[in-house]
Amino acid sequence: MDSQLGLIEQSFNSRYTFWAREALDDLPDNFTITDPSISGHPIVFASRGFMKMSGYSREEIIGKNGRFFQGPGTNRRTVMEIREAIREERTVEVNLLNYRKDGTPFWMLFRLSPVFCKQDGRVTHFLAVQVPIVSKKHRRNSGFNFSEEGSDSGFREIVFGSCRREVCSDSLLDLDRLLALDSDSQGLENEEPCEASELEKRKAANAINNVLSVLTQYSASTGKLVCEKRCSIAGVGFINSSLRISLGRIKQSFVL
Ligand SMILES: Cc1cc2nc3c(=O)[nH]c(=O)nc-3n(C[C@H](O)[C@H](O)[C@H](O)COP(=O)(O)O)c2cc1C
Repeated sequence: MDSQLGLIEQSFNSRYTFWAREALDDLPDNFTITDPSISGHPIVFASRGFMKMSGYSREEIIGKNGRFFQGPGTNRRTVMEIREAIREERTVEVNLLNYRKDGTPFWMLFRLSPVFCKQDGRVTHFLAVQVPIVSKKHRRNSGFNFSEEGSDSGFREIVFGSCRREVCSDSLLDLDRLLALDSDSQGLENEEPCEASELEKRKAANAINNVLSVLTQYSASTGKLVCEKRCSIAGVGFINSSLRISLGRIKQSFVL
């Protein structure tokens, strides 16, 4: 187990400078970063927002596979879609039911993106952003002027406008209250799948861009630059993630 934790530490520290964790912690979004080359494809970084949303501490999250947050109501077909996207090393966006530490289910917009090594074009990590979905019922009952088509003027200005941090955190507190209402509702698993609004989709895309720009910036000084698009496939040595997941398992069995 210690050797696994060592690999996880190394996975992050070898590619990003010391300050990367701090810069990622400053971002308000819920996100996780995984390493497909380590056995079990574990989470190597979890944001503060993700810990708050899931109710787990960082120690409880690091080293786990993302499926840890699934439960009986999670749609298997959606999970297969995620698995396929990982195998094909591409972006995917799905509505997904997950469970908090206290067992309450919640819907989220899950957006996944590979992170490539600029030098050889391999996938070094995967990045996933998890945006909680406010159900239509609570959008209607809330004070917010949410709308599917993007005329959600008040909230959008707060989130995307030139907002100051304290204004943002006030609005996020309100959003937390709405989400708490959502999780209070019984039988969430049996409800129709929650559809993400345009606002939530934009929020996920923005979050991915923000995290990727931090990763790019903080990988520059280690000399192991990452990028969001496969830049080059140097030589013929390109091995895709699913093969590397298997190789990771073999490597791990020698270490243990
Ligand atoms: C970066 C990353 C983060 C993930 N986060 C979650 C998550 O928060 N919740 C979830 O249900 N699945 C998450 N997953 C998906 C699972 O880890 C897994 O890939 C999925 O369940 C399909 O594989 P399986 O069929 O082997 O379970 C994440 C995957 C990656 C690559």
